[in-house]
Amino acid sequence: MTSTNGTGTHGAVIADTAADQADGAIVELRNAGKSYGNIRALHGVDLAVYPGKVTCVLGDNGAGKSTLIKIVSGLHQHTEGEFLVDGQPVRFSTPREALDKGIATVYQDLATVPLMPVWRNFFLGSEMTRGSGPLRRLDIEKMKKTADEELRNMGIVLDDLEQPIGTLSGGQRQCVAIARAVYFGARVLILDEPTAALGVKQSGVVLKYIAAARDRGLGVIFITHNPHHAYMVGDHFSVLRLGTLELSADRSEVSLEELTNHMAGGAELAALKHELSQVRGVDVEELPEEADLTAPVAGGGEGKS
Ligand SMILES: Nc1ncnc2c1ncn2[C@@H]1O[C@H](COP(=O)(O)OP(=O)(O)O)[C@@H](O)[C@H]1O
Ligand SMILES: [Mg+2]
Repeated sequence: MTSTNGTGTHGAVIADTAADQADGAIVELRNAGKSYGNIRALHGVDLAVYPGKVTCVLGDNGAGKSTLIKIVSGLHQHTEGEFLVDGQPVRFSTPREALDKGIATVYQDLATVPLMPVWRNFFLGSEMTRGSGPLRRLDIEKMKKTADEELRNMGIVLDDLEQPIGTLSGGQRQCVAIARAVYFGARVLILDEPTAALGVKQSGVVLKYIAAARDRGLGVIFITHNPHHAYMVGDHFSVLRLGTLELSADRSEVSLEELTNHMAGGAELAALKHELSQVRGVDVEELPEEADLTAPVAGGGEGKS
C-alpha cells in the first residue's frame, strides 16, 4: 500500500484498506493518535508489524516517532483510534504488559549497568538461579554459557564476556540488547534510533543484527531519521511528519531516492534554498535540485483522489 498525504484528510480511506492488509500482523495501529493535553502529537496513523519483516518509522525531530513507539511499548496510551496485538484491541498500562505480549523495546540510552560484566547485563532482572530456599543462588556458570551461546547464535563474537559492558562500543551494546530481547522471547523488537549516535562502521554492525533478528522471525520496528539506514534493512517505510503519516509504502513501491526526498521535506527545502540564495557565502548550487526534492512517488497519487 502506498499513500502520500499532503492534506491530512485521508485517514478513513486508509483505515479501511489497512484492515484487509494487516492479516497476520502482530502489532497494528489503526487511525491511531495521541494528545498530550491539548498538544496533538500523533494523528491518524496506520501501522502494521509482521513477523520476519522490518517496518521503518522515519521522520524529523518532533515528527512523533517516539510518541508512536511509546504507545506500542506500553509507556503511553493512545487517545484516538485502535491498537491491536494479534488482532485483539489492547491498551497497555505499563511496559511490562507489552513485554508479556512479546513486545520488547531497546531504548537509545540503553538500560545497562556499565560496570557489570556483559553476561551479567544480559540477564539483568531475569537472573538464572539454582537450588531453592536458603540455598538458592545465582547460577553464574550457566548464565555465562547461555549468554555466550546466544550472542554467538546472533553472530556476535565478543572476546570476553567478563569485561564490563561499559567498555563495549555503542554498537556492540545495541547488539547485546538485541540478542537479549531475542533470547527472552520477543516477537516484536522496537529500536529507537539505534544508529543515531554511531559511526558508519558501527551502524553497519547494528543493521546486520536488525537483519539477524528479522531472519529469526521477529517483527522489527526500526526508528531512524536516516533513510539510507532504513533502506538497507526495511520491508516497509512509514514517514511521519508533524504527527501524521506522510508516506506509508512497501519496499517495492518506493526507491531510496524517493524516500530521501520525503524525509528531506521537499517543498520546505526548496523554500529554504530560495532564502539561502539571498545570503552571501552559501553556494546554493551545491544544494539538491528543487525538481528532485519535490518529485512525487511513483503511483502515489499525492492523496488528492
Ligand atoms: N510528554 C509530552 N508532553 C507534551 N508534548 C510532548 C510530549 N512528548 C512529546 N511531545 C510533543 O509531541 C511531538 C512529537 O514528539 P516526539 O514523539 O518525541 O517526536 P520524535 O521522536 O519524532 O522526535 C513534539 O511536538 C513534542 O514536543
Ligand atoms: Mg524521538
